[in-house]
Parts: sequence; structure tokens; C-alpha cells
Amino acid sequence: MAESLRVGIAGLGTVGASVVRVLTEKAAELTRQCGRTITVTAVSARSRGKDRGVDLSNVSWFDNPIDLARSNEIDVFIELIGGDEGPARESVKAALEAGRHVVTANKALLAKHGVALAEIAEKKGVLLNYEAAVAGGIPVIKTMREAMAGNSVNRVFGILNGTCNYILTRMEAEGLSFEACLKDAQRLGYAEADPTFDIEGNDTAHKLAILTSLAFGHKIAADDIYLEGISNITQADIRAAAELGYRIKLLGVAQRTESGIEQRVHPTMVPTASVIAQVHGVTNAVAIETDILGELLLSGPGAGGNATASAVVGDIADIAKSQPGFQHGPVFGRPARELKPYKKAQMRSHAGGYFIRLTVHDRVGVFASVAKRMADNDISLESIVQHAVGPEVVDKKTVILVTHETTEAAVRKAVEAITKDGHLTDKAQVIRIERAG
Ligand code: HSE
Repeated sequence: MAESLRVGIAGLGTVGASVVRVLTEKAAELTRQCGRTITVTAVSARSRGKDRGVDLSNVSWFDNPIDLARSNEIDVFIELIGGDEGPARESVKAALEAGRHVVTANKALLAKHGVALAEIAEKKGVLLNYEAAVAGGIPVIKTMREAMAGNSVNRVFGILNGTCNYILTRMEAEGLSFEACLKDAQRLGYAEADPTFDIEGNDTAHKLAILTSLAFGHKIAADDIYLEGISNITQADIRAAAELGYRIKLLGVAQRTESGIEQRVHPTMVPTASVIAQVHGVTNAVAIETDILGELLLSGPGAGGNATASAVVGDIADIAKSQPGFQHGPVFGRPARELKPYKKAQMRSHAGGYFIRLTVHDRVGVFASVAKRMADNDISLESIVQHAVGPEVVDKKTVILVTHETTEAAVRKAVEAITKDGHLTDKAQVIRIERAG
């Protein structure tokens, strides 16, 4: 049997401890699958004394993860520290430069420095595996990098943040407030250390940026993503969506257009009957549309210790199975040096349907004026509904418009004009509608 694969883990939080546990409990099965044993030989974490529920008595401890990354005691460096700079970046770079394979769950790091790190990995002939960085336990990186060879992707979109999907699901199902649902998501360990990263869409954007590169062969461009989070989604939006046959999801969408690649993260109305609308709670889903395959939808657990550990262990097993000297496939599907410069499509050119919820003064002519502003901007309406704001509110009305396909620029101009007309009592709510099967 080949020599044991020696693993060093930096970061022993929920995910790190789960990885150690899975490697220990499934050791026999993994050995059968990989043809060699996998041994955790060294770790690096802030506190040595903490009880993590796993046996670490036989491993070496490193106070500095960079020393662990360069250590001769390991073949693979597992980065579970988090953060896009500092020890995470430095230790991954040090490990690759020292010729160690790397497995990371760090989407922020890859979204910012993925291409540069991939260049080092490819030069050194080592693997940089990152399945856990996108959509938790769903094997979407493997699918896009390995199983879709020859396919040209037109659009990739998905529910990439378990915390947001959990919040939106409970708000809809139980009529609970946003804050109460967020607290539960934090308690259950789904949310990032700073939950604003979840609810304002940054976490989704990091994951989308990685998928976009894999899908279209472009350099990662996380800073060019149009971003809106879910913190301003109200019960009024959720109820109106349901009445109109839609459900609200935070989607990350990357799409090829005539003017470039569109990358956007925002609350989205998807038809209630669509498959992606059935994805509830902390579950993630990724839809990939290609020329050869058509549409593929993968769904599964997107957050939490076990889901993430499953992806990390899968990445380690791939390294254990790989042959020494074997020239591994490129990190982002194409050689990092050959990734094209990202060509951004402007958000104002985005074409699609829109849901617009207006709270207006209840007086003569408002409805007609709103309709006129839509027509002025060439926006064709699929439906227009007016109803009471609530049982005791008499001087305001809710107007809900659903448009046929139009452009972001037209909608922004129309809403600006309606706002200037002075009919609104609150800020207009605009939610994009996404085509989904
Ligand atoms: N906070 C993330 C989520 C964890 O809620 O999906 C996985 O990246």
C-alpha cells in the first residue's frame, strides 16, 4: 500500500473539528477508497486546551499556521482559518510554494486571490482544491471542472447562502421577523462570523465569482458583482410575491450577454412552481445551463460543519488517490495564465421582468400617473394590482406592478419619475424576476 497521506489542518472551529472526526470515524472506508491511509499529523489553532470532541493527542501543534504550511510533516495543508488576507492567505501561499497540496473552504480568499494562488499551484504541479468554498456539501466545483468538459455555459445561478435561504424560508412559512430568523441561523452555526456578509450578499458574491470563472473561463472579478442583500425584504413583499405566484430567494446569477458577463446578487422572484423555489431552509442549489447538457440543478446542504467537512474530505480523498507526478487539471478549469480578462456587462442593460411595490397616497390620479410613467419608459405591464396597506390604514394604498421583460435602466427611470411626482409615502421596492424552470 502507498504511504499514508499526511494532513495538516489550520483552524479547528466547527468545520475543522468535523473534518478530524470524519477522517477518524471513516478511516477504514477512506483507506479502501483511496488505496492508502489518510493521517492528520499536525494542526494549528488558537487554543490548545479547548475540548473539540476529537482526539488530537498524537498530532503536532503549530502556533503559527505558516510554519505548519511549510512543515515537512505534511503532504496536504487544509486551510480553515477564514478571511481573505493575513494568516489564511499567507499560509496557503506558503504551502503551495513549498510544494504542498492545499484544500481550502475559504471563498473570500479565492474570490480575491484565487487566480494568483492557482498560478502558483499550477507552476508547482500541486492541487488547490476548494469544493467546500461554494455551496457547502454540493459537489459543484467537481461537476463544473470535471464533468462538464466540452459544454459551454450560458447561465449559472443559485441559492448560495444557507443563512439567507433559511431566513427567507422561515419568514414565508411562519410569518416571523427577519431579526428572529437571523438569530436562529446564528445559533445553528450557519451564519458567518459577521452575519452582514450573509445578509448583504457578500458571501453569495464570493461564491458566485468563483462559479463565474469556472463557467466562462474569465479571471475572477468579485468586485464587479452587482450586490443587493435581503435586509430590506418585508412581510409585505413575501405576501405579495405569494399572491402573484412567486417566491423570493437570494440568488447569485452569472450570465453571458451580448455586452459581456452579467454577475449579480439580489433578492429575486422565482415562479413558485419552479424547482429552485422548492429549495428551502439552509439548503443550497446551483443551476447550470449549457449548450450540450441543457439545465442541470444540484441541491443539497450548503452550510454547517458536516456539509462543509464532507466537501473537504472529498477534496483530501482526491489528493490521496492522485498519482505522484500526474499533471493535475487546472484549478479553475483552464490554466490560470490563460483565463480571459473579465468583460463586465452593465447592470443598467440587464433585461428581465420586474416586481415593483409602491406605497402611495390614496388620492385621485395616482394610479393613472403611475401607469403613465411606465408607458413613458416603454415598460409593458403584465399585471397591476391595488389594495389596502392594512385594515386600519385609510390614507395610503399599495400598488403592485409586474412588468414584462424590460431593462434595468427603464425601471430605474420610471421609479425615479414616480418618486419625483410625490405620490409615494415610502421608498419604492423593486425586485427582479428570474426565469427559472
Ligand atoms: N454562512 C454561509 C451560509 C456558510 O450561510 O451559507 C457557508 O458558506
